[in-house]
Amino acid sequence: MASEMDDGSMPGGECMASRAPPPFPAPAKGRLEGKVALITGGASGLGKAAAHEFIQEGTAAVVITDVNTKLGLAAGQELGPRAHFVPCDVTVEDSVAAAVDAAVAWHGRLDVMLNSAGVAGSLAGTSRHATHVMAAPAGSTAASGGGSIICMASVSGVLGGLGTYPYSVSKFPVAGVVKAAAAELSRLGVRVNCNSPFAVPMPMVVEQFATMLEGATAGSIIRGLSELRGTTCEVVDVARAAVYLASDDAKYVSGHNLVVDGGFTSYKRMNLPFPTKLRE
Ligand SMILES: NC(=O)c1ccc[n+]([C@@H]2O[C@H](COP(=O)([O-])OP(=O)(O)OC[C@H]3O[C@@H](n4cnc5c(N)ncnc54)[C@H](O)[C@@H]3O)[C@@H](O)[C@H]2O)c1
Repeated sequence: MASEMDDGSMPGGECMASRAPPPFPAPAKGRLEGKVALITGGASGLGKAAAHEFIQEGTAAVVITDVNTKLGLAAGQELGPRAHFVPCDVTVEDSVAAAVDAAVAWHGRLDVMLNSAGVAGSLAGTSRHATHVMAAPAGSTAASGGGSIICMASVSGVLGGLGTYPYSVSKFPVAGVVKAAAAELSRLGVRVNCNSPFAVPMPMVVEQFATMLEGATAGSIIRGLSELRGTTCEVVDVARAAVYLASDDAKYVSGHNLVVDGGFTSYKRMNLPFPTKLRE
């Protein structure tokens, strides 16, 4: 029997019938297929954008919660049948517990909790809020066979001076709380991580910039600050980082701070005439 050459031809130059092409890969399923997620502060900004991305990635249901009921109901309508709104104030422990219970009662499970609720104001009660949003979902996500808790931190919790003083002080502890909670909840199989986005011109940031710099437009300032040429931080970049941390792609990632800032807090380029060629 003639044996095949490396290039698929037969010895003596005889050509083999062309082989069937490899099958196309199966269409990618959503990375959050079948999961149930709850998003605090989901009525607006980054929380709402994450809800949209979660739905695109196949979540069975996204429970958006917010202290602003009017905005929350509108966001629920806008996001479609797989989203619905539950009022919740993250500063009130019972309110967070009730929202988690409602999600589990409706959908039978809770796999992902994204804590996006935030304000740029006073620090009162910050450490207690951090405990509410960790404790309430811990049992439910564990009961669902693991689970992922994600907290929205900020580049203002990585470098000082990027936001107002109270805002910075409220964001620095998030990465620490996340590590401590990740340690506590690891034995339940629950992963805990945070996301530290660069500035995206959402209502809260626009408001902060307005208090710091009279008359300046947040969008133009933010664009000018980008360290990564040709691009800026968009809501979808932050939402996709949350999708990753929520998904099984990150099944061995816990206690991590995923900074989404185009390198802003990692390096500064000095405006000096460095040689462009390496010396021999
Ligand atoms: N936008 C940015 O550039 C940026 C950058 C880094 C981090 N963050 C963080 O991302 C998160 C979301 O910010 P955003 O820009 O989308 O702001 P946003 O103002 O658009 O949304 C915040 C939402 O949280 C809700 N909220 C406020 N207090 C609440 C409470 N006590 N209980 C429940 N909900 C409450 C608000 O009603 C609002 O809908 C915040 O934690 C913020 O610190 C934002």
